Amino acid sequence: MTKPQIWVASFLMLFVILFILGRVTKEDEVLRKSPPSGMLGQSEQVSTENLSGMELMSVFGCADCHGTDLKGTTKGPELKNIADHFSRQELINYLRNPSSFMNSERFKKYREQYPQMLMPSFNNKDVKDLGKIADYLLSR
Ligand code: HEC
Repeated sequence: MTKPQIWVASFLMLFVILFILGRVTKEDEVLRKSPPSGMLGQSEQVSTENLSGMELMSVFGCADCHGTDLKGTTKGPELKNIADHFSRQELINYLRNPSSFMNSERFKKYREQYPQMLMPSFNNKDVKDLGKIADYLLSR
């Protein structure tokens, strides 16, 4: 290489190095600006999408009262033969608003059996998630 060629080449190298350095620091800033994933308020909502009905039931705490195997606890009844009593739509409605079903004989008995406990309403949950839970309960 002649002397001018060496000059040109080293200038080019300098530009390339500055360009790369610029990129690296920019990416650093972007990374630092994004909040840690655990602090995203929406993360809980997003993550239910891939959960099955059975998994959703443990996430929503149904097992606290109905038992991990859904055989019932002192806080809530066993969940069995659900399909004998509810259609899919009725079951979703029930989960959203259990008190509207209170007047049937079956529920009057539950009131006596679990005087301290009420089935909570899950009307703040995504209907799609409740649908998955309904499908799971109706297929058992
Ligand atoms: C705080 C305790 C508690 C939790 C949590 C709870 N349940 Fe219940 N559940 C009850 C009680 C008690 C009853 C009986 C009806 C009543 O007294 O309100 C009941 C009744 C039911 C019934 C009607 C059973 C039947 O024989 O018709 C279904 C279905 C049901 N729960 C599903 C669920 C699902 C699904 C979840 C979670 C998304 C859940 N429950 C969470 C306490 C609970």
